[in-house]
Amino acid sequence: MRKEFRGCTRLLLVTVGLGLGLCANTAIGQDHGSASADSKALFNSRCAMCHGADGHGSEMGKSLKVVDLTSKEVQSQSDAELIHVISEGKNNMPPFKGSLNKDEITNVVRYLRTLK
Ligand code: HEC
Repeated sequence: MRKEFRGCTRLLLVTVGLGLGLCANTAIGQDHGSASADSKALFNSRCAMCHGADGHGSEMGKSLKVVDLTSKEVQSQSDAELIHVISEGKNNMPPFKGSLNKDEITNVVRYLRTLK
């Protein structure tokens, strides 16, 4: 019952905590096909009111000048950059570090990568 891979999860938290996100990138890449139902629910309840369930932007979001989350402009940013914006906010984008923990923010970034 040895679970050596657990170490990476801990490392991931620490790395994301430091804003580097290197291990996070690897871990996200390796975790096949599980942009989990949770991260979808999280996105729908916390983000979709501005970004739309498909990430293109809701009516309200458009009035706040949201960016299309499926665009190259957003998708070309690294996980660490997106995690930073979601944590700290940007212009009309509210900060989420007070209401979502690092795991949740990492998961929601993973979900953003699945939006088309
Ligand atoms: C109150 C409306 C609102 C909510 C809720 C909201 N956003 Fe945003 N978001 C914005 C706006 C407005 C921008 C555009 C900011 C800018 O670049 O001026 C934005 C930008 C972004 C960007 C792109 C940042 C960049 O640097 O290009 C990402 C990624 C993002 N939001 C993710 C999320 C996620 C994930 C959630 C839910 C946890 C969320 N947003 C919730 C309004 C919102």
